[in-house]
Amino acid sequence: MPDRDESPARERPAPAAHRRAHQTAHDLERYADLFAQRTRAMRSSAMRDLMAITARPEVISLAGGLPDTSTFPPASFAAQMTRIAQESAAEALQYGPTEGFDQMKSAIREVMAAEGMAPDPRDIVVTTGGQQAIDLITKTLVDPGDVVICEAPTYPGAVPVFCSYEAETHQVEMDDDGMRVDELEALLDRLSAAGRRPKFVYSVPSFQNPAGVTLSAERRRRLVELARKREVLVIEDNPYGLLRFEGEPQPPLYQLDGGDYVVYIGTLSKILSPGIRLGWMVAPPPVMEKIVLGKQATDLCTSTLSQYFAVEFFAEDRWRSYIDSLRDLYRSRRDAMLEALEHQFPAQATWTTPEGGLFVWATLPPYIDTSDLLAKALRENVAFVPGAAAYVDGTRGANSMRLNFSGSDEDEIREGIRRIGKVIDEQVGLYETITGEHRLPGATDAGSETADVLPLRRRRREG
Ligand SMILES: Cc1ncc(COP(=O)(O)O)c(C=O)c1O
Repeated sequence: MPDRDESPARERPAPAAHRRAHQTAHDLERYADLFAQRTRAMRSSAMRDLMAITARPEVISLAGGLPDTSTFPPASFAAQMTRIAQESAAEALQYGPTEGFDQMKSAIREVMAAEGMAPDPRDIVVTTGGQQAIDLITKTLVDPGDVVICEAPTYPGAVPVFCSYEAETHQVEMDDDGMRVDELEALLDRLSAAGRRPKFVYSVPSFQNPAGVTLSAERRRRLVELARKREVLVIEDNPYGLLRFEGEPQPPLYQLDGGDYVVYIGTLSKILSPGIRLGWMVAPPPVMEKIVLGKQATDLCTSTLSQYFAVEFFAEDRWRSYIDSLRDLYRSRRDAMLEALEHQFPAQATWTTPEGGLFVWATLPPYIDTSDLLAKALRENVAFVPGAAAYVDGTRGANSMRLNFSGSDEDEIREGIRRIGKVIDEQVGLYETITGEHRLPGATDAGSETADVLPLRRRRREG
């Protein structure tokens, strides 16, 4: 009998790294019958995929939705964690209630009060980020084939959720004032005529991700009226409401509705830290009961340590000034991006002018596919999110892109936009050479049949 060293190499299991690198179609087939049906509908998150590439230090990433966590004072972080270690180590390292700690809910109520909302603490569940809230709501309400409605474009991180639960997703167009509520109403009519009742309408009304636009006060009222009249749940996802740089704050849908038909999602990711993974949801008691069952099955409870950290942070009562500092920082970065866009993007391009939040949505001539453009941009060490990621069919939005201005400093933003502008210019030049077509400066594609994405006016800023 040969000793181990003499056995043929191919009989020994290959090291994991080698196996991963040499995975073949045959290897994949081996597991294919094991996968649940629903995995066929699963889609990868464009932003998550991009994160691996954009983590390279030479890449300027305008792709992620990263807040600037370097602004959080390390000394405060150390003091808060030290206090936890000294005063409540055992509790902070223990499991906690599925709904979240009462002190955490008090902090959440303070944050919501800053936008005029006053939920009952019993209607709040603390979640592992807003993302988990979207997942739990969909898990709780949606059977395969059920109708879900969202904006066009929608939050790219919601797309994989709706796909995973095999929802039939309809997207309602937007303009400068957010979702076209008249189009929503027409869609509800069509669905109702076909005997179908949507499970919910998902909306990011303030400084929408990805479009940067905000639902007007009038449309907010109309949307809430519609929800009540048609008995349709509206999911209000509001990570950015407190990050307003200018203009009048708009009332949250939850405030207008009082919490009967509006389920609210909040998060500390953009006003404190995404690394602590703390979000929450406010829902009417019967919905909440099911959501809590879903959460028990998913992760038992949200990180106790993170909740302790957040409670310490809010106890210091500096959270408002911290948000003020973020607002100032992001306002300057937005301005740097808008100015760079004016100089570096071609005349045919349009983009939104957000009054807050983290994103600008730019639309290019319809013959440019931003997924192809991204490959070229990455060669120039710059990244953005291609618009198709914000559409459930994966094809609309092909000539648009989401640009983030919170995660890079002003010089990086200017340089990043310059590099993207350069690859766009190359594409425009190529198109004009091939077609012999030369566009007049300032000509836009608004009204073109293929321009099926947010046809936003180009707004020039005053001053
Ligand atoms: C609209 C929206 N919802 C939810 C999330 C998820 O955030 P988190 O899970 O970090 O709270 C994001 C993150 O960018 C977002 O923009």
